[in-house]
Amino acid sequence: MIGKEKQKELLRLAAEAREHSYAPYSHYRVGAALLTKNGAIYQGCNIENASFTPTICAERNAFFKAIFDGIRTFEAIAVIGSGELPAYPCGVCRQVMAEFCDDDFLIITSNADGSEVVAETLEQMLPHRFGPKDLL
Ligand code: THU
Repeated sequence: MIGKEKQKELLRLAAEAREHSYAPYSHYRVGAALLTKNGAIYQGCNIENASFTPTICAERNAFFKAIFDGIRTFEAIAVIGSGELPAYPCGVCRQVMAEFCDDDFLIITSNADGSEVVAETLEQMLPHRFGPKDLL
């Protein structure tokens, strides 16, 4: 499990990533910073679309960049939104995490100004999940 300092660094990088957000419809800007098991960090932001459904969340943006690079093992992700409440990952992003991450994968979420931070494992956020174990 990563320590508080590493969690802070990931949150700082998530806030930096949020600057890249394209969210002209919801105006809800999200940034993510994904830590791989080998210590690399991938940033992602939400990218919206006038047709709405092609919109991608910050978390999946970060995961797909890493997966394209051949990385398959992950340690933690920090997510920062634009509201007063911590930006918990949506169900679709949790399911993508379920594909690649272990029970103890750490999800750190923060509200817009970083005054409220929550850290929970994937097991806590998506118990009884359907995943590779069910098919492989
Ligand atoms: N969004 C994320 O980037 N991550 C989440 O886990 C929840 C939602 C984005 C998608 C959309 O651009 C905006 O937030 C409002 O739903």
